[in-house]
Amino acid sequence: MQAQQQERYTTTAIVLHWLIAVLIVGAFTLGLVMTDMPGFSPTKLRYYSWHKWAGVTVLLLAALRLLWRLKNRPPALSAAMPAWQRGAAHGLHHLLYVLLFAVPLSGYFYTLASGFPVVYFGLFQLPVLIAKDPALAETLKGVHYWLNMLLAALVALHVLAALKHQLIDRDGTMRRMLPGRSH
Ligand code: HEM
Ligand code: HEM
Repeated sequence: MQAQQQERYTTTAIVLHWLIAVLIVGAFTLGLVMTDMPGFSPTKLRYYSWHKWAGVTVLLLAALRLLWRLKNRPPALSAAMPAWQRGAAHGLHHLLYVLLFAVPLSGYFYTLASGFPVVYFGLFQLPVLIAKDPALAETLKGVHYWLNMLLAALVALHVLAALKHQLIDRDGTMRRMLPGRSH
């Protein structure tokens, strides 16, 4: 019944949400696969490049998304939703926004500290902001790994919450983030 009254996120927010989600799942999977490959095959090196390009793209899109979000507040959540759930959703969304930056930045600085510049799509060298530093690289490798595990756990929670609203509450929350004709 609330479903008809619920407004949607803007088309820009919806496109950025799903584009970033697909890139994150791709980068995450590639990250696990590539680090599991033995030796230094050309395929492994190619996967590392694709991983970095996808990750940098997430960072750029996250910046766009945050700017858009600051100028376009999302529609209010259903008034029928308990206050604790609204608080939990907002807290989780804030954490996800932080990780949208922290995860790719930790990978970027890990790569620089390891002594490799990042060449976006093999075309543009991105700024080398720190010098090679093996001890820092070791730390950042762990930071990148653990931030990724945190991201995976929070995304799992986020998806479970979305599915609960869709399948159990049937309150139209999911439609807010799905493409479709507006009203
Ligand atoms: C949303 C973006 C990203 C996600 C979801 C992601 C995810 C991951 C994951 C899951 C791993 C495997 C960790 C392990 O098993 O040790 C990994 C490793 C790695 N990532 Fe990322 N990453 C992202 C962005 C980046 C960026 C932007 C860069 C660099 C420009 C980068 C560089 C690396 C490198 C070099 C490794 C290999 C670490 C090792 O040798 O153990 N990542 N990433
Ligand atoms: C890597 C994957 C994902 C990330 C990082 C992510 C992140 C986010 C963030 C940060 C928001 C808050 C948007 C804002 O208020 O500006 C959001 C909203 C939302 N997401 Fe995701 N999401 C991901 C995947 C998914 C998936 C797979 C689903 C569905 C199964 C989903 C469903 C939703 C819904 C329904 C909303 C709107 C919630 C509301 O109305 O307040 N997301 N997501």
